[in-house]
Amino acid sequence: MKVLDIHSHFLPAKWDDFGARFGTPDWPWMRQLGDGKAMLMIGDTDFRPVYSACWDPDVRLAEMDRDGVDQQIISATPILFAYERPAAQALYCAQVFNDIALDICANTCNRLHTLAQVPLQDIDFSCKEVSRAKNSGHVGVQIGNHVGPKNMEGEGLVAFLQHCAEEDMPVFVHPWDMVGGERTSKYMMGWTVSMPAETQLSIVSMILGGVFDRVSPKLKICFAHGGGSFVFLLGRLENAWLHRDIARGQSKHPPSHYLNRFYLDSAVFDDGALRLLVEKMGEDRVMFGTDYPFPLGEQEMGKLVSESRQISQTAKEKILAGNAAKFFGIKI
Ligand code: CO
Repeated sequence: MKVLDIHSHFLPAKWDDFGARFGTPDWPWMRQLGDGKAMLMIGDTDFRPVYSACWDPDVRLAEMDRDGVDQQIISATPILFAYERPAAQALYCAQVFNDIALDICANTCNRLHTLAQVPLQDIDFSCKEVSRAKNSGHVGVQIGNHVGPKNMEGEGLVAFLQHCAEEDMPVFVHPWDMVGGERTSKYMMGWTVSMPAETQLSIVSMILGGVFDRVSPKLKICFAHGGGSFVFLLGRLENAWLHRDIARGQSKHPPSHYLNRFYLDSAVFDDGALRLLVEKMGEDRVMFGTDYPFPLGEQEMGKLVSESRQISQTAKEKILAGNAAKFFGIKI
């Protein structure tokens, strides 16, 4: 079986000192520790321990070979989005990381591909950067699932997504900057509890904000982590839509009507959850994703899908590579 992982991340070994360039504090940077290890820093604070697979394609390809992964799509780590910064700074930041991402993928015999990032707080800048990224070889664009208090709805987001549809640039939505604040600050609950809620919030906002009613059906959009808590709670959402008019928002149809307008990755870490994804979304709308090489990623890449006892062989082949090959226009 061919295997194409659509959800993995990169970090450059080092990059411009944005703090010095822009004269503002708390930009992310890499504190290299030697021996292939580094600490991703936010200003003076440790954010996440990382290792050389993030920046060294040889290390990445060796680990892909170990687990039988043929191709991988790399995307930025959401902490690099800079949506809270002035838009011109975020654009500069996006261009730096987009160009480095292409360098990481170069000379890997078409095994690594990359998604661009954009300064989503500015729709004109974002549209221009998507077009530049397409022309320079990115296979799609990754966006964070909100800009400050703005969920995934509204005129600006619709215009951006419409531009992506017209450019045939697939969109991958990644949760970041999670809800919950102090109450989820312990035990990595920001990742295990808030992150799935963020993704659910995004899908619900798009549906009830009427985004799918307004944007072209040509738009290809995929949400990370199996859609977070969306699929499991779809019945609750549907019930609210049917029985309370204030729960309907601007959507013309009940939420379940829109399941054929988006895709989800397979990063759910549980066979029963994978079966539910396939049952609800259909086997054509789930794509293999690992969250490699971060600590909460799938430790043995591909195992959940390839060893599933609850989905068919045909579904496995589609999820592991076929669906993503069509979605991103990648030859497998
Ligand atoms: Co991720």
